[in-house]
Amino acid sequence: MYRANPGFSRRALFDVYIWRVSFVQNNAKQQKLSVIIIGAGGHGRVIADLLNACCCARIKGFIDDSPKSSVIDDLPILGKIAELGRIINSLNGETSALIVGIGDNSMRNHIVSQITSVLVRYNARFLTVKHPSASVSSSVSLGEGTVIIPQAAINTNAVIGNHAIINTSSSVDHDCIIGDFAHISPGVHLAGGVQVGEDAHVGIGACVLPGVQIGKWSVIGAGSVVTRDIPERVVAYGVPAKVQRVL
Ligand SMILES: CC(C)(COP(=O)(O)OP(=O)(O)OC[C@H]1O[C@@H](n2cnc3c(N)ncnc32)[C@H](O)[C@@H]1OP(=O)(O)O)[C@@H](O)C(=O)NCCC(=O)NCCS
Repeated sequence: MYRANPGFSRRALFDVYIWRVSFVQNNAKQQKLSVIIIGAGGHGRVIADLLNACCCARIKGFIDDSPKSSVIDDLPILGKIAELGRIINSLNGETSALIVGIGDNSMRNHIVSQITSVLVRYNARFLTVKHPSASVSSSVSLGEGTVIIPQAAINTNAVIGNHAIINTSSSVDHDCIIGDFAHISPGVHLAGGVQVGEDAHVGIGACVLPGVQIGKWSVIGAGSVVTRDIPERVVAYGVPAKVQRVL
């Protein structure tokens, strides 16, 4: 996991966090990274926008198994997931980085496990991206493939896992731990020391009180106030949030 270091290659690291820091150094002369986004739906298009706001990314296009058209938001559909190796190869040795732009946690998880070996084979990497308007403390750890969307704030010592989504205008306070593939929806507020398990989804506008733990794969309904720990694999919602059903 990369720990943000404010003293190092400021602009690049502030806009686009790359997993292997040496990779950034070795490619310092290259002006822009070629990036492929997997998924051309709503979340993938948000990521395209986010990358356009960053200084060192050039989007090659989307990969999508069932695209609505051959060009989406002026970006080409490059092919299907099964063709990923060929597509990376066709970049003719250009630096290639990928990001899985799929909002659904279990689908994102599934695709990451499907393509990781292809990335290794073609020496490509998952990209971690933070929008310039988001505020992330220098003590925060961000996992690979994670996206920090506009106006999000992440405070001191928080740890964000791999392929997580910290969505628009959400706040993740000090010492929170967010698991791999978790999704913190727009407008969510997590107080200090909250833990959100792997693959869990905190719905839009929910608030979570200090130190509360949300179990793996659970879903917190929109607008909920979570006052107590929530177990794994349940749907919980309301004020205060109560478990409504098991997944
Ligand atoms: C909680 C949630 C997952 C749905 O759970 P569900 O079990 O499928 O619920 P249903 O849609 O079948 O609704 C069942 C009941 O719960 C109520 N309900 C659903 N979500 C609720 C919520 N967040 N808060 C309070 N009540 C809610 C419904 O109104 C319905 O009530 P009724 O039986 O009196 O009509 C969903 O409503 C939700 O909040 N998802 C979050 C989506 C989100 O934030 N996406 C962000 C994308 S960036």
